[in-house]
Amino acid sequence: MGRFDGKVALVTGAARGQGRSHAVNLAAEGADVAVLDICQQVPSVQYAMSSPDDLDETVALIEKTGRRALAIQADVRDHQAVEAAVAQTVGELGGLDLAVANAGILPVTGDAAREMDAWRAAIDTMLSGVYYTLRYTTAVMIERGAGGSVVLTGSTSSFRGVAYNADMLTPGEVGYGAAKHGVLGLMREFAMALGSHHIRVNTVAPMGVRTPMVVNEYFADLHSEAPGGWMANPMGLRYIEPQDVSEAVLWLLSDQARYVTGVTVPVDAGLLLV
Ligand SMILES: NC(=O)c1ccc[n+]([C@@H]2O[C@H](COP(=O)([O-])OP(=O)(O)OC[C@H]3O[C@@H](n4cnc5c(N)ncnc54)[C@H](O)[C@@H]3O)[C@@H](O)[C@H]2O)c1
Repeated sequence: MGRFDGKVALVTGAARGQGRSHAVNLAAEGADVAVLDICQQVPSVQYAMSSPDDLDETVALIEKTGRRALAIQADVRDHQAVEAAVAQTVGELGGLDLAVANAGILPVTGDAAREMDAWRAAIDTMLSGVYYTLRYTTAVMIERGAGGSVVLTGSTSSFRGVAYNADMLTPGEVGYGAAKHGVLGLMREFAMALGSHHIRVNTVAPMGVRTPMVVNEYFADLHSEAPGGWMANPMGLRYIEPQDVSEAVLWLLSDQARYVTGVTVPVDAGLLLV
């Protein structure tokens, strides 16, 4: 028996990295899962983004658990696409109880990060995209009347600046930080308004996680040029694993957290203490 037997979940940014981990963990505990991803390069992003093959691999991993997977190639920046994805999930998987608004980009390196497009890409993906996901998933949950739980992916960047000099203060970098701070505002609005519908909304705030977003040559350069103490944490870690974040996400989604709403759980080895 799993914590999510009979439930249906939607996870955005699920082709790889943390989103894949959340989706596969949800399936392993009994949920059928719709996995949404853009599976395309966004021009402001310098590292390689996911591909349709990555999304297929997530589907295969879910099906290995014996649960159903629904692959949806869509862009969270497009509100009509998100609305359609939610409708498709309900139509094909028979409902919607759980959602993880996880899709994200880190447009902070390379020349493209200096263009104003990088600001827009960051805000459109990680603020507007999270809003659209919340807006359409909770609308269905309200209508069904059976409650629900949504987890947003914030970051330790939801609480602090990350740029360590003026040169690093690019539109992409500032957009990332502003969007991740904004996620907390979205959480508080929805958590406050939807408590009476038994819909809970929480945020997970990871430190560096071992995924292709930060394990790449471009981000390694940012690290090597940083002043001592940048991203310091009491446990002395550089990265945690996607599974570490999934453990917190699944707890927040589960009935074990049934009276937890409107909070942020840092998974950060104490980074925010420093
Ligand atoms: N890796 C880290 O160090 C770290 C730390 C804190 C927070 N985060 C956040 O965690 C989340 C997951 O990132 P990850 O580390 O797994 O990186 P990742 O690059 O491996 O995964 C992100 C996924 O989101 C998808 N995506 C991006 N833009 C999209 C869009 N417009 N529509 C649909 N899908 C889109 C990508 O294609 C990719 O598959 C992001 O929100 C990120 O900001 C990451």
